[in-house]
Amino acid sequence: MMVFDSLMRNAAMQKLAQGALMRMDAETAHRATINALRFGLVPGGEQLPSNLATTFCGLDLPSPIGMAAGFDKNGEAFSALARMGFGFVEVGTVTPRPQSGNPTPRVFRIPEVMGVVNRLGFNNEGHQAAAERLKRRAPGQVVGVNIGANKDSDDFVADYVAGVVTFSPLADYLTANISSPNTPGLRNLQAEDALKRLLGALVETRSAQPRQTPILLKIAPDLDEGEMDSIARTVLDSGIDGLIVSNTTISRDAVAGLTNSEQAGGLSGKPLFALSTRRLAQMRQRLGPDFPLVGVGGIHSAQSAIAKLEAGANIVQLYSALVYGGMEMINTINAGLSQAVSQRGLTSVAGLTGSAVADWAEGRGEIA
Ligand code: FNR
Repeated sequence: MMVFDSLMRNAAMQKLAQGALMRMDAETAHRATINALRFGLVPGGEQLPSNLATTFCGLDLPSPIGMAAGFDKNGEAFSALARMGFGFVEVGTVTPRPQSGNPTPRVFRIPEVMGVVNRLGFNNEGHQAAAERLKRRAPGQVVGVNIGANKDSDDFVADYVAGVVTFSPLADYLTANISSPNTPGLRNLQAEDALKRLLGALVETRSAQPRQTPILLKIAPDLDEGEMDSIARTVLDSGIDGLIVSNTTISRDAVAGLTNSEQAGGLSGKPLFALSTRRLAQMRQRLGPDFPLVGVGGIHSAQSAIAKLEAGANIVQLYSALVYGGMEMINTINAGLSQAVSQRGLTSVAGLTGSAVADWAEGRGEIA
């Protein structure tokens, strides 16, 4: 194992491994990566520069770049990901009962533009399996848990409430994911009355728990102005702690005519960047300068991570770009971000947040 580990540190070897992964179908490549992480067959990250350290909802993060939900659905790999240089990891989406998700194939690459379409449908091992793994986690790793509802549930709200009960003692934060396009009816929870009811139930349930774990809400990018207004109002009234913008999109405008663009599901990766960053900035305008916001969608470089922060994110997450760039991309992004912070004469990465909100909100933003 040690020999293999040292080989993996070699850049040429990493390229070879990435090439092999790209020849597998997307879901098989994902499973192989999770197994490599579980068994320690991945390079450790470099020591993170101190100017990347930041705080979010009272949590101390060594870097503002986290692993987005959907990669470590069952909590098998968060320790390895934290060692590789991710500032935090979001496990899930987990549902109360295990479920197998949609028939395969259900994850597709759009290689021309570094895009991904998935219609996994919350395949996961259920609350208990993830909870058992989280109970054994080492201190110092920041791990959020993304909670959802079983496809055949007759009470979606009760499934989220169960998530708060199970994971508030075990997670650093919780994310209510109401924005997956792959569970029929789930996105209806974004409508004002349904959202009020859901967030009310989550906050009330939390208040009865011994530990007041921060609760975030993860929204879709497929929202118009009125829907964004209503979500902002409801979120500000609710007592939840933050918002994640965004999940995958059902729009195919950015990928029309390309490989796999006709596949049903949610689109992520580089072609999601413009839309998700615009929605992020529009939500920043609605929620004010101090509301905790996580930016996710299409980050594929240090420059795109910086743009996301400038558009209003306090911290960011990524997933799809790793499908193309390999796991070690996290080192390149951390290094480029740290360098940009120093070059701009800032003492901390937090200084980048919100410096170009209007540009991105109006669709004029550009990645440097
Ligand atoms: C996801 N995403 C996701 N989100 C979520 O809240 N729960 C989930 O279970 C999943 N599952 C999932 C699977 C796969 C294969 C992908 C590609 C994505 C969405 C993800 O967390 C993120 O919001 C989007 O992918 C946008 O970020 P990237 O991938 O463009 O960096």
